[in-house]
Amino acid sequence: MLELKDLYFSVGDRNIIDGINYTFEKGKFYGITGPNGSGKTTLAKLIMGINTPNAGEIRFGGKEISQWPITERAREGIAYSFQQPARFKGITFRDLLAMAAGTDDEDMLLALLRRVGICSLSFLDKPVDAKLSGGEIKKIELATTIARNPRLAIYDEPDTGIDLWTIQPMVRLLKREQKEHGTTTIVVSHNRAFLEAADIVLMINEGKLAYRGDLQGALPMLNDLSACNYRKCVGDRDVGCYR
Ligand SMILES: Nc1ncnc2c1ncn2[C@@H]1O[C@H](COP(=O)(O)OP(=O)(O)O)[C@@H](O)[C@H]1O
Ligand SMILES: [Mg+2]
Repeated sequence: MLELKDLYFSVGDRNIIDGINYTFEKGKFYGITGPNGSGKTTLAKLIMGINTPNAGEIRFGGKEISQWPITERAREGIAYSFQQPARFKGITFRDLLAMAAGTDDEDMLLALLRRVGICSLSFLDKPVDAKLSGGEIKKIELATTIARNPRLAIYDEPDTGIDLWTIQPMVRLLKREQKEHGTTTIVVSHNRAFLEAADIVLMINEGKLAYRGDLQGALPMLNDLSACNYRKCVGDRDVGCYR
């Protein structure tokens, strides 16, 4: 349902995304992992249209969308949940949720809150401003992504700032959305709980797809990679870590 063909994103002479080829299948759950700065967020933003590739194709449902604006991709059913969500002075969670769901009907909004596992009604009228905790704003971001009923949902490190006790319910929520609504799901994460829930784990390293497969197969590589990056960091410039 989503095909990446020879995808490049460069800044100056650096290829931040360096020739990625991959086809995502409808209704599957993908976990994308890899070291900090390897290009995971950049790849997610290329799919959503926040970044435009320098070369290559992105095909979604058979259409070449790589030059489409974000709004058109959203209309096609792609939703993106930011690693660092924006905060808005004067806007409440209710406003954001109503915009995402396309309705301000109280019963529908309450049904949505139940769907995403937020029980407290007081949450609806919370302003989405600087006073929210990191975890609260991530939950709001997740809820508005789900409220759009996307065909493809991309979550960039949904667990950042989330308390340990909320991670498993969050994994279950995303799995339920996958199963009940057939949502193709891409989660960028280092968290084992999300990677264990994934049908397929992808590892990005230095802008390249270094691994695709199950988590068991990825683990030795992830360990090697951190050792290798450490050697590079302490001065062994000749080391190539899964290029
Ligand atoms: N627009 C940009 N201009 C310059 N550098 C960028 C830009 N976007 C990303 N980068 C750099 O590309 C690398 C990959 O970033 P990112 O995709 O955010 O990594 P991560 O895998 O941690 O999500 C980082 O070194 C980042 O600083
Ligand atoms: Mg990132």
